[in-house]
Amino acid sequence: MYADRITRIAPSQTIAITTLAQELKAQGRDILSFSAGEPDFDTPPCVKEAAKAAIDAGFSKYTAVKGIPELLQAIAQKFQKESGLHYTADEVMVSNGAKQCLFNAFQALINPGDEAIIPAPYWVSYPELVTYSGGKNVFLPTDAATEFKITPEQLQQALTPKTKMLVLTTPSNPTGMIYTKAELQALAEVLKNTKVWVLSDEIYEKLVYEGSMCSFGALEGQLERTITINGLSKALSMTGWRVGYLATKDKALLKHMLALQSHSTSNINSIAQKASLAALQGCADQDIENMRLAFKERRDMAYAGLNEIKGLSTLKPQGAFYLWIKIPGQNSMEFCQKLLAEQGVALVPGIAFGVEGFVRMSYACSLEQIKAGLERLKKFMA
Ligand SMILES: Cc1ncc(COP(=O)(O)O)c(C=O)c1O
Repeated sequence: MYADRITRIAPSQTIAITTLAQELKAQGRDILSFSAGEPDFDTPPCVKEAAKAAIDAGFSKYTAVKGIPELLQAIAQKFQKESGLHYTADEVMVSNGAKQCLFNAFQALINPGDEAIIPAPYWVSYPELVTYSGGKNVFLPTDAATEFKITPEQLQQALTPKTKMLVLTTPSNPTGMIYTKAELQALAEVLKNTKVWVLSDEIYEKLVYEGSMCSFGALEGQLERTITINGLSKALSMTGWRVGYLATKDKALLKHMLALQSHSTSNINSIAQKASLAALQGCADQDIENMRLAFKERRDMAYAGLNEIKGLSTLKPQGAFYLWIKIPGQNSMEFCQKLLAEQGVALVPGIAFGVEGFVRMSYACSLEQIKAGLERLKKFMA
């Protein structure tokens, strides 16, 4: 009765635990949630001012589907200056969050039967988007020994004539790990002489606490195969504004993605574009740095506290705002449900990210909440 492609995709597995947390909260229970994938800060004041000015100026009409020219220009400049990515403004498009960028890219590239290589644990939406496109997910399991990063050998073994793309997330959600330049170069070496695309999701680029962020497309000879995806949601605490952007050197591919977007959502909200322009021109750079420092402090507290709890362990994440925690046993959903019922603490089960025996804790919340959450976790484990 319904379209095959729509019945192939499943709602996020994180919903079950989030719904349960909301229900308990509504019943008056004292719930500490560490499940959110968004910063708890307000959007920087200068960005809000730019949005207000756009409203007052009557900037409320359709814009070009890809975004206003000055925003595309600012994004291209950002890529050049901060990431060493040599894109021009006509190789960029703006979409409703990084999520729509990903949707556009998967839809434009994946044919039925095409294989997408996805390192696991993965961010929840990738496999569903591949499935929706009719493609096949090829998961590459990772573990703590390689800081949850894939190795060149794994990539080599996974390649088949049907491999269409490799999805890379650095810094990673859910592990917080960052690929070094050398690690990316080793992966690029494996892809040499192949036509495999790399979808580089760099949405957590600004949230780096150790080491440095390297964009796959900045590696020598890799820009042509790379679709770079980024956005304002995480770095600027603008999740609700829905601003993401992507860039590709392949103008025909960009045209296809724009055609798709022109028939679905058209341009993103015009006001948000003006606000984003102000942000990308640097008005909120100090706010971004302040938030990064706050996240670092929270990470340090959460990381140290967790490793003191018997039965739990975690690596020190270098970026993003998540801890990927090893739990006893292999039933992460049951662990999270019990923890929520007994201690009122909401974490996300690892199975939502394709891996059992782990849970994800977001530290995008206050130090007080982290402290209280750690105490409850300790009681739970005891
Ligand atoms: C790795 C990753 N990519 C993309 C997104 C989507 O971001 P946006 O809010 O810009 O759609 C998220 C959000 O959680 C994410 O964690």
